[in-house]
Amino acid sequence: MKMFELIKDQTKNIKKIVFVTGAGISQESGISTFRGKDGLWRNHDPMKLATINAFYDNPKLIWEWYNERRKNIFQAHANQGHRAIAELEKYVQVVVLTQNIDGLHQKAGSSKVLELHGSIVKIKCSVCDFKDEIQTEISENPPLCKCGNVLRPDVVWFGESLSQNVWQKAMIFASECDLMVVVGTSLVVSPANTLPIYAQQNNAIMIEINPENTEMSSEMDLVIKDSSAVALPELISLFQRN
Ligand code: APR
Repeated sequence: MKMFELIKDQTKNIKKIVFVTGAGISQESGISTFRGKDGLWRNHDPMKLATINAFYDNPKLIWEWYNERRKNIFQAHANQGHRAIAELEKYVQVVVLTQNIDGLHQKAGSSKVLELHGSIVKIKCSVCDFKDEIQTEISENPPLCKCGNVLRPDVVWFGESLSQNVWQKAMIFASECDLMVVVGTSLVVSPANTLPIYAQQNNAIMIEINPENTEMSSEMDLVIKDSSAVALPELISLFQRN
């Protein structure tokens, strides 16, 4: 528990914890990050795969790419990092604000998860307000909505806004937490990278878990340069002993 010595005497006062998570927490479940070593954006141009213009230019290519990612995600298991966060709900109020679309927090048993960038299992019509969830492989490419227009993955692409409903809630949770743990995100994408500022304004204790430096490492109260699957179980054991 040496890692979290700094907060060991404050755990009794910590009632609300918010985790802001990114691709790094799922790396040990076999899902690539975006900007890390072998990250997706190292080998692919995000402007060709994750924008609405790219989708309209070549919906077939975009569906092939999301089908590939979905297959990989369906085979993935939550790791100790995801499970530790779910376990913490036994001791304090926990909210997960995730940029991940892989659903692994929910698979690990977390009950309060806001998906800021959507979900790989959700689809929507590119024109009408049809929305749905997919559980199996989609054969048609591109799949069409009953209104005749093309269906698209219900994820947030570059240049698109987040769901206002989800974002409003995320800002409120961040503004009310006693402890914010930023895990496995480079904090380069906005508006998710502003969430730590809301917590700081509430004088929350700020912890970062990431083997690498990020945009906000210097502003954290505690930086754990380790992997989430190693560090998070240690954090949880701090609350278990209370
Ligand atoms: N444990 C903790 N952190 C890790 C681990 C690990 N095992 N492995 C890698 N990391 C860290 C990396 O050092 C990096 O800082 O995770 C971070 C991953 O950063 P990105 O690849 O930039 O992913 P993320 O921050 O989630 O990206 C944000 O960008 O591409 C868009 O919509 C996409 O949601 C995504 C958003």
